[in-house]
Amino acid sequence: MNLIDVTLGSPRLLQRTIGHRYAQDIFQEFTPQVTKYMYPSPPRDISDTVAFIEASLRGLVTGTNLQLVILDGASGDFLGCSGLHGIGGRTPELGIWLKVAAQGKGYGLEAVAAIVAWARARLDFDHLIYPVERDNSRSRAIPEALGGRVEEERVEPTEAGRPQDLVVYWIDRHGA
Ligand SMILES: CC(C)(COP(=O)(O)OP(=O)(O)OC[C@H]1O[C@@H](n2cnc3c(N)ncnc32)[C@H](O)[C@@H]1OP(=O)(O)O)[C@@H](O)C(=O)NCCC(=O)NCCS
Repeated sequence: MNLIDVTLGSPRLLQRTIGHRYAQDIFQEFTPQVTKYMYPSPPRDISDTVAFIEASLRGLVTGTNLQLVILDGASGDFLGCSGLHGIGGRTPELGIWLKVAAQGKGYGLEAVAAIVAWARARLDFDHLIYPVERDNSRSRAIPEALGGRVEEERVEPTEAGRPQDLVVYWIDRHGA
C-alpha cells in the first residue's frame, strides 16, 4: 500500500506526508529542547534532515512507514512531525514531536488520535505501541487519554548513547 497520498484532517490540524519542502522547518525546529526525551539526536547539518526525509519517502512508497508533518489546518504553518512506523507488522509504533511554540495547546493528542483512528480503519494489527520515557509526563498523557496502558518497561540507549528509561503503552485495535 503506497502511503504517499495520505492526509489526515482533524479540527485544528492537517497531517500530510513528509516531503523535501519541509526540510528547513524540520532542521530549525528539531532542537535539543524537543529531543530531550526522544531517541534521535537533533540534526547537526541540514544534510541529516534531508537523509531522514529520503528514508521516510522510501517507507511511504513501500507502505511500511507513515511519516507525516503536522500543519496548522487554517494557516498551513509547520507545527511538527508524527508517524506510524512498522506498518505491516503486528505492533506498529506511534511517534510525535511538536515545535516548542506549538506545545501546550493539545495538538499532540489531536494529532495522535487522528493517526489511531486512521490505523483502526485501514490496518490489520494486534495493538499500536507508544514507547515513551518514564519522566515525559506530557507525552504519557497522550496514550492515557486514548485508553492505552503500560504493558512493557525497558531501558534502551538513545542514538547518542544515553540510557532511556522507557514505558511502552499498548493501544488496542478497537476503541473502548
Ligand atoms: C509530547 C508532546 C507531543 C505533547 O503534546 P502537547 O500538545 O504539547 O501536549 P501538552 O500536554 O503540552 O498539551 C496539552 C495541554 O494543552 C492544553 N490545551 C490548550 N488548548 C487545548 C485544546 N483545544 N485541546 C486540548 N488541550 C488543550 C491542555 O489544557 C493541556 O494543558 P495541561 O497539561 O496543563 O492540562 C509535546 O510536548 C512535544 O512535542 N514534546 C517534545 C517531543 C516529545 O517528547 N515527543 C514525544 C516522544 S514519546
